[in-house]
Amino acid sequence: MKVEIREARPSDREHLVHCLDALHDRMVELDRWNRLHRTRDHGPLNLARLRREARKNQGFILVAEADGVPAGAAFAHLRTYSREQRTEERPTKMGFLSDLSVLPEWRGHGIGTQLLREVEIRFRRAGCDQLGLGVFVPNRDAQRLYRKVGFRAEGMLMVKRIGRPPARWPPAARGSEHRGRRRAKPVRPTSRS
Ligand SMILES: CC(C)(COP(=O)(O)OP(=O)(O)OC[C@H]1O[C@@H](n2cnc3c(N)ncnc32)[C@H](O)[C@@H]1OP(=O)(O)O)[C@@H](O)C(=O)NCCC(=O)NCCS
Repeated sequence: MKVEIREARPSDREHLVHCLDALHDRMVELDRWNRLHRTRDHGPLNLARLRREARKNQGFILVAEADGVPAGAAFAHLRTYSREQRTEERPTKMGFLSDLSVLPEWRGHGIGTQLLREVEIRFRRAGCDQLGLGVFVPNRDAQRLYRKVGFRAEGMLMVKRIGRPPARWPPAARGSEHRGRRRAKPVRPTSRS
């Protein structure tokens, strides 16, 4: 199988939305707490956010093609630091891989490894001294891959259930910018994810 990694083009929109949805569907599957779901607008909204992020913070979106077929994607940008963060952290230039997704039918063939390699090459070229990413604790497959290419765990989000979940989302709707908006319907993971 021939894998090619290239910059995303405007015509990749559907593939990128599919990658983001497939990634999040996997997170929903792994979620032991039943905290996650995916609504219909998940992919388009998050793609728009990631494109903005890439434009604003010298980022990029890569597409992996396997034998000419779009099979995966990586979304990355430079991490920014607030004035307050700079009082706590040493100067660093971190390239941040916000999302990595290989479509289910292509997983386990080395495509994720090649996307990661290309992300690292680009950030090295940009003068970065660190490469960062976040990973869901139950996502052992992805952690194996990241450890294999040199990442080590640094932080962890811990959650304790302290009450019943709110019946409505967002919980603090009163007076918030979301008032009056319709709730998006969750969707079941697609068969391709
Ligand atoms: C995690 C992910 C990006 C890895 O991409 P991939 O192309 O399947 O990974 P590779 O084929 O390059 O595998 C490299 C290593 O990752 C691990 N791995 C991760 N996911 C795997 C899978 N589904 N099947 C087999 N190995 C997997 C293995 O340790 C493998 O090394 P090995 O072959 O020496 O055992 C991909 O499986 C995926 O999109 N998963 C769902 C979304 C996700 O978890 N994204 C990362 C969010 S942080």
